[in-house]
Amino acid sequence: MARITAGVTTSHVPAIGAALDNGKTAEPYWAPIFDGYAPSRAWMAEAAPEVVILVFNDHATSLMLDVVPTFAIGCADAYTPADEGWGPRPVPVVEGHAELSAHIAQSLILDEFDMTLINAMDVDHGLTVPLSLMFGAVDRWPVRVVPIMVNVTQFPPPSGDRCWRLGEALARAVASFPQDLRVQVWGTGGMSHQIQGPRAGLINRAFDTDFLDRMVGDPQSLRGITHLDYLREAGSEGIELITWLIMRGALGEGAVERHRFYHVPASNTAVGHLVLENV
Ligand code: DHB
Ligand code: FE
Repeated sequence: MARITAGVTTSHVPAIGAALDNGKTAEPYWAPIFDGYAPSRAWMAEAAPEVVILVFNDHATSLMLDVVPTFAIGCADAYTPADEGWGPRPVPVVEGHAELSAHIAQSLILDEFDMTLINAMDVDHGLTVPLSLMFGAVDRWPVRVVPIMVNVTQFPPPSGDRCWRLGEALARAVASFPQDLRVQVWGTGGMSHQIQGPRAGLINRAFDTDFLDRMVGDPQSLRGITHLDYLREAGSEGIELITWLIMRGALGEGAVERHRFYHVPASNTAVGHLVLENV
């Protein structure tokens, strides 16, 4: 049977990808960020997942504003890094797991989550930057990926509570996949950031720290955070944190913290990162 062994959350700033791709990781601005993920890369070598269910938000890259699915799942064999304006990132093509995707899609839809099925798409920084942070520069990604996308680009996104319940349904879907597989669930985006409007540059360390604490010690309490709370406290892009709640809902109640990192800033964003292991 497939098993969810661990969960990872991380911010997914495009400039982090650019720093990696242009050999700038040792520069004073970037070095603390890449150092902050070093323990996670070491942990990952031990954890050796076979599949990552990577929950993120597309940024009107592949899911343009013509069609805005609330929840979508990638069902392809492969996903090409997207061109977000500077050419595609020079990182490997992302291998999918079409069989697991199909199983999860069926399980979720019969479990009342009406996923949009995405059979072809390119993947943006929301997916590739976290892979780079966790695996470094590689010729081939060491995992296969099932992408799950959540709308945060056009109001209204789903509630945090709905995201949590999708995570629980995801856990049921994985547990009913007959093949033995070590599966991790990741949630990417956040933490506090606002890249537009009069409050551009907003960072809220107190909110972020409390959110990280509660992800570990009191995750259920995060389900009640409203869209307005996210907007007010974490800025207009802080809503990306709802992807973390899908991950947390998919993990067991007693998941333990293996690594935590918080750093301000990377570009306009407070970088937050957690590694949680199911025990
Ligand atoms: C930035 C952060 C994001 O999450 C994103 O999607 C785009 C840009 C930034 O801080 O620059
Ligand atoms: Fe983003």
